[in-house]
Amino acid sequence: MKRMMTILAASLAMTAFTGPALAAEDGEAGKVISKQQQQEMVNVAHRGASGHAPENTMEAFQKGFEMKADYIEIDVQMTKDGELVVIHDTTVNRTTDGTGKVGDLTLAEIRQLDAGSWFGDAYAGEKVPTFEEVLNEFRGKVGILIELKAPELYPGVEAKIADALIERNMDTANNEKIIIQSFNHESMKTSKELLPNLSHGVLLGGNWANVTEEQLAQFAAYADYFNPSMYIVTEELVGDVHEAGMDIYPYTSRSQEQALRLFDLNVDGIITDYPEHVYAHPVKN
Ligand code: G3P
Ligand code: CA
Repeated sequence: MKRMMTILAASLAMTAFTGPALAAEDGEAGKVISKQQQQEMVNVAHRGASGHAPENTMEAFQKGFEMKADYIEIDVQMTKDGELVVIHDTTVNRTTDGTGKVGDLTLAEIRQLDAGSWFGDAYAGEKVPTFEEVLNEFRGKVGILIELKAPELYPGVEAKIADALIERNMDTANNEKIIIQSFNHESMKTSKELLPNLSHGVLLGGNWANVTEEQLAQFAAYADYFNPSMYIVTEELVGDVHEAGMDIYPYTSRSQEQALRLFDLNVDGIITDYPEHVYAHPVKN
C-alpha cells in the first residue's frame, strides 16, 4: 500500500511538471528509460542537490525542491548546547571555514561559520542550517529524508528530533513525506518507538553484501526502507528486500550511468547528488 501511495505521489508531482523531455539515454547500451519508469522512481536529493550547491545548506535544499526531487535528504547532529543542526561530518572542518567537532561547538559558534565558500564563491555566507529551520521551510513542499548521523555521539537525539516533528504535527499516521533513517539501527528502533506512525529506514554500507533473509525480516520489524550502498545492490537483493516488505533506496548515485543501472535493478528510489539523472529537469545555477 505504501509503495502504491509513493508511486501515486511521484506521478502527481510529475504531472504538474511542464519541463523538457523526460527520456534518459545510456550512451553505451543505447537504453532508454521510459517516462513511466521515471515517474515511478522516487528521486531523493542527497544532502540537497549537492552536485549543484554546497551540501546540507538551504541553497542545496532549495535547489532539490526546484528540481522537483521527491525528497531532500538531510544529516542531523547535535551541538554542545543540545541544538539540532544539519551537517554531514562529525567535524565542521571539511564543509565550513571552522574547525572542531560538531558536538564540541555551541549553536552560536556553528552559526558563525561559512558553509558555502568551500563549494564556490557564489555561496559565501551560507550557514549550517538548524533542523527546525529546514522543517519550517520545506515541510509540505517536498519530502524530507532525515538521517540521524552518528547518533551514538548524541544521547537523546532521537527524542529531540521526535519533539521537533511532534510540535509541528509532522508525526501523523502514514506521513509519506517524512522518513527517518540511520546507519545506527539501534537508534532507529528507539526512534520508531517514539514515532510509531512515521516510516523508518536502515542504512547499510558495502559490508552488507551478504545480508540474509533472516536479517531482512529483523529490519522489517521496525523499518520500512532498506537503503544500502548502491555497490551492493543486485536484482536478487532488490527482490529479497521487497519480499521482506520494505522499499529500497540505494545511495549515492553521482552519474547518469549509475542511475540507469539502479533503474535496471528495479529499485524504488535513487539517492543522488544530481536529481536531473532521475528526472531530466533543468538545473538553475
Ligand atoms: O541517504 C544515504 C546517504 O546519505 C548515506 O551516506 O555518508 O552520504 O550520509 P552519507
Ligand atoms: Ca546522509
